[in-house]
Amino acid sequence: MNHKRVLVTGAASGIGRGIAEKFLEEGARVILLDKDEKNLKDTIIQLKSKKGIAHAIVCDIAQEKELRLAIEQSWDYWDGLDVLINNAGLALRESFVDISISNWDLIMDINLRATFVLSQIVSKKMIAKDIAGSIVNITSKNGLSGSSKLAHYNTSKAGINLLTQSMAVELARYGIRVNAVAPGFIETPLDRELKQQEGSLNITDKTPMKRMGTVLEVANGVFFLASDAASYITGTTLVIDGGHLANASEF
Ligand SMILES: NC(=O)c1ccc[n+]([C@@H]2O[C@H](COP(=O)([O-])OP(=O)(O)OC[C@H]3O[C@@H](n4cnc5c(N)ncnc54)[C@H](O)[C@@H]3O)[C@@H](O)[C@H]2O)c1
Repeated sequence: MNHKRVLVTGAASGIGRGIAEKFLEEGARVILLDKDEKNLKDTIIQLKSKKGIAHAIVCDIAQEKELRLAIEQSWDYWDGLDVLINNAGLALRESFVDISISNWDLIMDINLRATFVLSQIVSKKMIAKDIAGSIVNITSKNGLSGSSKLAHYNTSKAGINLLTQSMAVELARYGIRVNAVAPGFIETPLDRELKQQEGSLNITDKTPMKRMGTVLEVANGVFFLASDAASYITGTTLVIDGGHLANASEF
């Protein structure tokens, strides 16, 4: 990954920050994109000592004009991108019957639509410049199996899984690989918020490994898929969940 040009969305917190850190440790040039300007600045300061080079771009990926501008800025900064990590995401916990159209649209816009827009523009540019790039989409175990109070989130993540496969099929001829990572319960601010809303529930009860995962454990999987070590892997979803999904029939 030395000097590779990488764009990570949602890089100011949690898993995205962990992914950016991993790539920087390996000497990559990383653009950290997020809508949270303050957290983004703090993150850049924290990651300054790493081997690679970090650059911040503030953007709300739910706003299409802003997103398109940010993609151009990201591409132009190092005259191209080798790796795109679609990580930014939002989860709202509410019953299926209570989900408003505006919340449904918001989740779809951030989680699914922005992943499509970013991937389409970046892959077009990669094709034009003959870059054998790699795209990794962050989905979720919730995109592979149902759960309560997250119908919009679960649907958006299931959409990412099929988008990943469909892109992989069409982009393979250009040397572009597309994969996804599906984390289980990972210690991040997003997960803490969901847990608070759920009260005292022990969320790792059904996870065979009986603990939450770390952002580094997810970042390691993302790094592997993006790297040449995964040169024959495309269209796959790597589940990183401590065995949670394998345990679906347990009571
Ligand atoms: N934490 C988990 O347990 C878990 C499990 C499965 C999947 N995921 C997925 O991993 C990804 C990262 O989650 P996390 O837990 O690190 O969350 P997080 O809330 O800690 O971080 C998400 C980051 O995305 C940014 N973001 C959100 N909406 C944005 C927008 N419209 N434009 C730009 N940036 C935006 C936020 O500002 C934040 O910095 C998400 O796609 C999430 O669905 C997380």
